[in-house]
Amino acid sequence: MATQKLLLLPGDGIGPEVMTEVQKLISWMNKTGMGSFETESDLVGGSAYDAHKVAITDAAMKLAHESDAVVFGAVGGPKWDKVPYEARPEAGLLRLRKELELFANLRPAICYPALADASSLKRDLVEGLDIVIVRELTGGVYFGEPKEIVTLENGEKRAVDTQVYTTHEIERIGRVAFEMARKRKNKVTSSEKRNVMRSGVLWNEVITALHKREYPDVMLEHQLADALGMQLVRWPKQFDVIVTDNLFGDMLSDVAAMLTGSLGMLPSAALGATNEKTGKRKAMYEPVHGSAPDIAGKGLANPIAMFGSFAMTLRYSFGMTNEADMLERAISDVLDQGLRTKDIASPGQNAVSTTEMGEAVLKQLQKIAG
Ligand code: IPM
Ligand code: MN
Repeated sequence: MATQKLLLLPGDGIGPEVMTEVQKLISWMNKTGMGSFETESDLVGGSAYDAHKVAITDAAMKLAHESDAVVFGAVGGPKWDKVPYEARPEAGLLRLRKELELFANLRPAICYPALADASSLKRDLVEGLDIVIVRELTGGVYFGEPKEIVTLENGEKRAVDTQVYTTHEIERIGRVAFEMARKRKNKVTSSEKRNVMRSGVLWNEVITALHKREYPDVMLEHQLADALGMQLVRWPKQFDVIVTDNLFGDMLSDVAAMLTGSLGMLPSAALGATNEKTGKRKAMYEPVHGSAPDIAGKGLANPIAMFGSFAMTLRYSFGMTNEADMLERAISDVLDQGLRTKDIASPGQNAVSTTEMGEAVLKQLQKIAG
C-alpha cells in the first residue's frame, strides 16, 4: 500500500481535542496495516497568529500543497477578535481553500435514527434524513473584488463585498452535484436568488444548460435560496443533493446540520479538480462545527464530526471505501449503544467525554474490522 501524506491542522478551540481522537485512529490503522499514513502537523488560525502573527505560514501552506490530504480541526475564538483583519483566524482557512483551489465543498447531513430526538424538529421530519449540500467554495462574495471599506468625502464610510461567478465556476460545481446525485437518489436542487441577483440569473442559466447537455437523466429543480431555507425546515426529506453558492451554502449547511441533532455531527470535504496526469485531487476535510471556544479544553467536544471527516478522507482521497464504511458504521453503532456527548444528550442523560466517545468509536471499529 502506498504511504499517504496527511497534514493535520488542529487549529483552535476544540480543534486539537477532536484531532487527538483522529490521531489515535490513524496510529491504530498504521499499526494494523489497515492504512499507511505519514502525518505532519502545523498551526492554523489563532494559534498560528500567536506564534507567527499570521493565520497560516507559507511553510504550512507548502506542507498543504505537498500533502495528499489536509485534515483540519477548527479556527477562531474571542481571543483573536482584535487581530488585524488579514490575520484573523478564518483567513487561514480561506487561504487554504483558495490556494489549493478546493472549489467543491460536500456537506452531507445524515440523521442517525438514534439521534432523531436530539433535533429541534419532530422525529418524523428528520429520522432517516440523508442529504448533501454541495457548496461552491472558492468564489462568490467570499473572494470577489472589490472587497473593502472606504471613507467617502463626507466622512461617511462605505463597505463593499462583491458577488461574482463565471460560467466555468458554475459548471464545475454543477458537475460535482450531478455526478453525486447519480450515485444517490438522482435529484439535484439548485439554489440562488435570480429574482434579485445577476449572479443568480447566470447560475440558473448555466445549471439548466449543463443539465440539458450532460445530465438529462438526473432530476433537476430550482429553488430560490430563501424558499429553500424554509423548505429545509418544513420538509427536509424532499431533497437529495442541493447545489448552491458559497454564501448561501454556508448558511444552508448550518441549517441542515441542526436537522441532524447537533452541529457536532457534521463532516465535510473540500475537493479540488482531479489532475488528469496523476489522477489525484487536492482535498481538505473538516468538521462543520467551529472552534466552540465556550467548551474548549473541557473534554466536552463531540469528536464524531471529526471522525466523519476522516471517513470522508478515506473515501474521497484514498478510495478506501470499505474502511470508510466501517468507520461510519462504528459511529452509528456507538450512537445506537446510547453513548452521547453533551451536545447530543437528552436532558438528564449521562454524557461522556471527548476521549470516551473517541475510544468507544475506535473500539467498535476494531470489533467491526475483526
Ligand atoms: C464554514 C465556516 C467558515 C465559512 C468560516 C470559519 C470562515 O463558517 O466553514 O462554514 O464561512 O466558510
Ligand atoms: Mn459556516
